[in-house]
Amino acid sequence: IDTEVGIIGAGPAGLLLSHLLDRASIDSVVVERRTRAEIEQTHRAGILEQGSVQLLVETGVSNRVLTDGREHHGIDLRFGGVSHRLDFGQLVDASSWLYPQTDVFRDLAAARDRDGGDVRYGVADAVVDDPTLDRPTIHTTTAEGEPQAIRCRTVVGADGAHSQTRQLIAGRAQYFRQYPFAWFGILCEAPPAAAELVYCRSDRGFALISQRTETLQRMYFQCDPAIDASTWSDDRIWSELQSRVAGEDDFRLPEGPIVQRTVLPFRSFVCEPMRHANLLLVGDAAHTVPPTGAKGLNLALADAALAADMLTRAHHGDRTALDGYSARAQDRVWRAQHFSYWMTTLLHDAPNEQEFDRRRQLAELRLLTRSAAGARLLAEGYTGWPHEPLT
Ligand code: DHB
Repeated sequence: IDTEVGIIGAGPAGLLLSHLLDRASIDSVVVERRTRAEIEQTHRAGILEQGSVQLLVETGVSNRVLTDGREHHGIDLRFGGVSHRLDFGQLVDASSWLYPQTDVFRDLAAARDRDGGDVRYGVADAVVDDPTLDRPTIHTTTAEGEPQAIRCRTVVGADGAHSQTRQLIAGRAQYFRQYPFAWFGILCEAPPAAAELVYCRSDRGFALISQRTETLQRMYFQCDPAIDASTWSDDRIWSELQSRVAGEDDFRLPEGPIVQRTVLPFRSFVCEPMRHANLLLVGDAAHTVPPTGAKGLNLALADAALAADMLTRAHHGDRTALDGYSARAQDRVWRAQHFSYWMTTLLHDAPNEQEFDRRRQLAELRLLTRSAAGARLLAEGYTGWPHEPLT
């Protein structure tokens, strides 16, 4: 098979890129190790920045986010047992949207079907021979067990946090940060506890009250990364969550059966550069953020939009357009790294924290809720920095 752009990975970054290239009349083939059903059943984050919503709607992926998603006009920062509202509309004239990643994936996969996109799920492996070749080749084994070679002009690694294609970025630097905690995430059958999301700092640690539908809620609380979620009873989970959100206003979470639970690892990671010769990286293949603030998916979509733009220019004869990809992507990547790190350290309790740090943390939270300038900085990052105009 010959194609212009070979994309490894059919998560949101890989599929959006394929969709955007198609709009620019550029051929692509997407190969994915997992089956479509497996990807659909992976629960991930649920918040889209305004720019991500615009990308999906204005480029014709789907309007479903506008009809089935929920526009959120702010968040509650809760500390000292009191909720403090940050109104994004007032602060930065922007909003965020509750729309789970599983739905983003479904919309993108459906759009690729609708437009005749070539997406191959369930391929056994995908090995790139040499990105410095004029036409690098992806060697795969089809779902039926047949070997297959896909000759490309450019290869894009959209193969997630455990990316193999990342290994081909010669001379790369990798930056890590580990955190001494994780998130215990649940899905439960209960009505929403609040109108919008509640990010809660307490002496027992962080909790996040998010939502999915009128009858299904998503919540997380900071935990030891070594715990086994399956050993926790529903009662124990509810009492941990209730004690973290408790306060003088008697705020309580409506409880219900917990239908899904997972422990989410916390890690900050960046690979630089994001391009080597005829290979680009997009999304988690190049960077991961801790989940606080829900930047991972948004960053992946922004990478895909930028890569599509650069690849379109390259396709029309300006191969040097790819030279600028990494630096431009990294600018947003590091802003998102800082934001995610900041939200994390602002709201979590590190196991070795001194009383000094707790007081400093509370002072910072008061600053962010009392100072309009402070609140705006947070609101701007949360709702997302503007996207560069698409060609
Ligand atoms: C969700 C996840 C996040 O990390 C976050 O900051 C907000 C919401 C969610 O899954 O709903």
